Amino acid sequence: MELEEEKALAGRAAAGHVRPGQKLALGTGSTTSFAIRALAEKFPSGDHLSIVASSNATERLAVELGLPVRALEPGDKFDLMIDGADEVAPTLALTKGGGGALFREKFLARLSAELVIAVDHTKLVPKLGTRHPIPIEVVPFARVKLLHQLTERALSPRLRADRASGAPVLTDNGNEILDLFPENGVDDPARLDHELRVLPGVIETGIFVGLAHRIYVGLPDGTVQEILPGGGPPP
Ligand code: A5P
Repeated sequence: MELEEEKALAGRAAAGHVRPGQKLALGTGSTTSFAIRALAEKFPSGDHLSIVASSNATERLAVELGLPVRALEPGDKFDLMIDGADEVAPTLALTKGGGGALFREKFLARLSAELVIAVDHTKLVPKLGTRHPIPIEVVPFARVKLLHQLTERALSPRLRADRASGAPVLTDNGNEILDLFPENGVDDPARLDHELRVLPGVIETGIFVGLAHRIYVGLPDGTVQEILPGGGPPP
């Protein structure tokens, strides 16, 4: 089975979780896009859903499909957030930000009662930083200093740049992304997250610890595995 089909299976399973009238936060990326398409099919008239998107790309897609997307409001809390991930560790710690939307994704995840993550099977890793770099969003002015500090910490930072133009990729917030390549992966994601976030100029990291409540994994045999905190399938 193609990875795209696994993503579609997982995205559809995540969308299956949504009930009419819920307040939803939507993540970003190809797997989330499958969930958004499934949501639009399931709720063709919006069904009083109330949706905030984590990126301009997600907002465009959801609006195009007729889903009711709105801006963040002061009292916002969400019943559910659906998102993808670049890596899922056995503890359900995640690496996110392959699509550069990590700040808004983490911001919305913290406001959500439940974070449901949809991934294909290749995203399951023994520890973070082994399959995908760890992205951090940084203020462009601070980049030169941060590159030095992160290199000294053996995190091998690399500025994310557009392949064609070579220009730095800018986030929806107008910031840059540094991708970190820890040599042997990340042994303590919570600690690294904290160490990075205290560096002046770092806006947010793509390390999500203790935020995911449920993972749907599309598998090569065409089934979907559901993983809950604690490692096991649901009772
Ligand atoms: C966006 O910034 C990311 O956090 C995505 O959720 C992550 O990169 C997964 O994307 P795919 O579903 O496209 O693999």
